[in-house]
Amino acid sequence: MLILGIESSCDETAASVVEDGTILHSNVVQSQVDIHKAYGGVVPEVAARSHIEVINPVIHQAIEESGFSWDDIDAIAVANAPGLIGSLLVGTLAAATLAKLHGKPLYPVHHVEGHVYANFITKQSAGDPLELPSKQPSFPMLALAVSGLHSQLIMFEDHGKYHLLGETLDDAVGEAYDKVAKILGLPYPGGPSIAKAAVDGDENAFDFPDAKLKGVYDFSFSGLKTAVLRAVQREVGVDHTFPSFELAARLDDATRANFAASFQRVANQTLVKKTVTAFNEFKPASVVIAGGVAADRDLRRRLAEALPVAVEYAPRQLCTDNAAMIATLGYYKSLYCEPTDPEAVEVKPTLSMNETAWRT
Ligand code: KG4
Ligand code: ZN
Repeated sequence: MLILGIESSCDETAASVVEDGTILHSNVVQSQVDIHKAYGGVVPEVAARSHIEVINPVIHQAIEESGFSWDDIDAIAVANAPGLIGSLLVGTLAAATLAKLHGKPLYPVHHVEGHVYANFITKQSAGDPLELPSKQPSFPMLALAVSGLHSQLIMFEDHGKYHLLGETLDDAVGEAYDKVAKILGLPYPGGPSIAKAAVDGDENAFDFPDAKLKGVYDFSFSGLKTAVLRAVQREVGVDHTFPSFELAARLDDATRANFAASFQRVANQTLVKKTVTAFNEFKPASVVIAGGVAADRDLRRRLAEALPVAVEYAPRQLCTDNAAMIATLGYYKSLYCEPTDPEAVEVKPTLSMNETAWRT
């Protein structure tokens, strides 16, 4: 069964064709990073406009590169939640229109749940070879989903049967990476630029406190970001009234690298600690990590060291936003769910995975 996936929830316009929820036939991602770089973060109106310009060519390219035609496509899956409302609308309307036009069933899916399904892609028929996992994860499966908008731990009993163990109460971990990068004068997106700067740094140069939270599996990264800000202010000898955008110019490269490495250590140690606690409590058969921050080598290494089971990782290209993960999840949804009427599909910018398990 061939599924066309469409993704536009934030700042990547993407389309992909995936067979039977496991074989990747095409994966087209048009990133807006260069547009948003100038602002140090995603500007919602600019993102929506940019999606409108490229959505049709991106979908066309994904079908062409897959080697299949519209006649071969069995269904369309689209991320209709959560994300930026203007961005979600572009992909969702495109998917609904194409579903009606070509008479294909339509499956709206949750973007963060989609990230988890990047781990189910184990084969590819074309394109640059990716380092894919050797097999699909087995259930029960513990998932750590960490991106620019989300930090959550989810226990999956089976496809569509899951519950949220905990999530961030304030900033997502990727958001903290992006904000700390800004403080340190490193380019957007913060994840890769902090990882790069951290290589030359001493991860023990600075210590930052762990957030104390009521929920064992909840996260909070806003305090960590503020702790970095205060430490940078102390380091350069100014107080909290000093403009934060002028701090970076006063840091030398060695101190900047030390801050990057220390922040990365504390953020990743928090993620690993909670994942290990959940592993010990729920004894899953597999553990997966998903989302843009899952591309981080330091996080992967720490997790592998701390868990008693081997973890296979999705390639970096499938960790950051893409439509292959949406098509993959769409396949499993199509096995158990009725399609949605294209004229009735809605976007849900704040939909939590607390409410989205689709099998009981
Ligand atoms: O999943 P994603 O592409 O988009 C969202 O759904 O948010 O994640 C983007 C986030 C950004 O905050 C970016 O800084 C972070 O993932 N990221 C990384 C790395 N690559 C991207 N964080 C840490 N290490 C990386 N190598
Ligand atoms: Zn994402």
